[in-house]
Amino acid sequence: MTAVTARAHTNIALVKYWGKADTELMLPQTSSLSLTLDQFYTDTTVSFDDSLTSDDVAINDQRLAPAASVKVRHVLDLVRQQSGETRFAHVASMNHVPTSAGLASSASAFAALAGAASRAAGLNQSRTELSRLARRGSGSATRSIFGGFVKWQAGTDDASSVAVPIQEDVTWPIAMVALVLDPHHKKISSTQGMQSSVTTSPYYPAWKQVVAEDLAAITPAILAQDFTTTGEILEANAMRMHALTLSANPPYSYFNGETLAAIATVQALRASGIACYYTLDAGPNLKVFCQEKDLGAVTTRLASQFSADQVIVAHPGPGITFL
Ligand code: DP6
Repeated sequence: MTAVTARAHTNIALVKYWGKADTELMLPQTSSLSLTLDQFYTDTTVSFDDSLTSDDVAINDQRLAPAASVKVRHVLDLVRQQSGETRFAHVASMNHVPTSAGLASSASAFAALAGAASRAAGLNQSRTELSRLARRGSGSATRSIFGGFVKWQAGTDDASSVAVPIQEDVTWPIAMVALVLDPHHKKISSTQGMQSSVTTSPYYPAWKQVVAEDLAAITPAILAQDFTTTGEILEANAMRMHALTLSANPPYSYFNGETLAAIATVQALRASGIACYYTLDAGPNLKVFCQEKDLGAVTTRLASQFSADQVIVAHPGPGITFL
C-alpha cells in the first residue's frame, strides 16, 4: 500500500469558464485563462488498500458521507479504469486556505486528487494527462495542474480538453488581493449556476464571443506585462459573466450587499491614481489585481473600509508537486 501525497494550488480565472458543453465529460463551452495563486492550496494523500470495501474520503479530518464524495469517487473510478487497479482507496485531503476565507477549493482539491490518485495507482502520467483527469472532478481544476498563467483549451473531446501553461514562472511584479466579504458556502453552486446560464440566458451566445475576444487580447497583454490591458479585460470579463446570472431565468446573483460597495472602493482607488482591477467568481468576494508597488495602498484602503482580517494577499503560485 503506497501512499502518495500531491499538493496543488488554487487559481483565479481572468477569463472565466462559465458553462459546460458536455456535463459527463466536463467539456466547457469556451476556453478560459487563469493565474495560479501561491496562498491557497490542497494537500491530498491517496493509498489503495485491499482491506477496504468502499472508498474512504476525508477532508480536513472529516470523513465524507458517500453522497458528498460522488465526484471524488468518480475520479478514483477513472484512475482504476486507466490503471487496472481494483482496490478502493483512502483519500485524505487538507485544504490550506486561510480560515473562513470563503475561497473556492475545488480547483486545488481535484488537481491534488488527480495527481495523488494517479501516482498511487502506479500511473506515470504527464501533467497534460493529469489536467485531463482533474477536469473530470471540477472544470477549474484542469488549470491548477500548472503554475502561473494557464489556459484551459476547451477542446472537442476528452483528449483535447486540457490545460496548457502560458507562462509558468511569472516574473511580473503583480499581486491578487482577496477581499473576503462572506466566508460561507455559496447557495448556488458554480455547477448549477453555469448550467442555468447556458440554458436560460439569452446573452449566452454573446458571452462565447466575448470570451473568444478576451482570450485573444489578454494573452499577448500578459506576455508583454501590460497591466492596464490585462486589468481592463479581466474586470470586464468578470462582470459579463455575472451578467449571465442576472439574465438567467430565474435570475440570481452571487453579489451581496457589500459587493457593490467593494467595487466602488476599487473604482475610487483607481480614480485616485492607484491602478487596480477586480474580479469575482461564484460568490460575493472580490479579488483585486494590482501591481506590487501599489500593494500597500490597496491593502490599507481595503482594510480600513472593511477589516484587516478580510484582506489576504496572494501572488502567482506553482503547479502540482508531489511531497
Ligand atoms: C466562476 O470549476 O467550480 O470560478 O466544473 O462545475 O466544478 P465545475 O465548476 P467550477 O467553476 C468555476 C467557475 C468560476 C470561473 C473559473 O474558475 O473559470
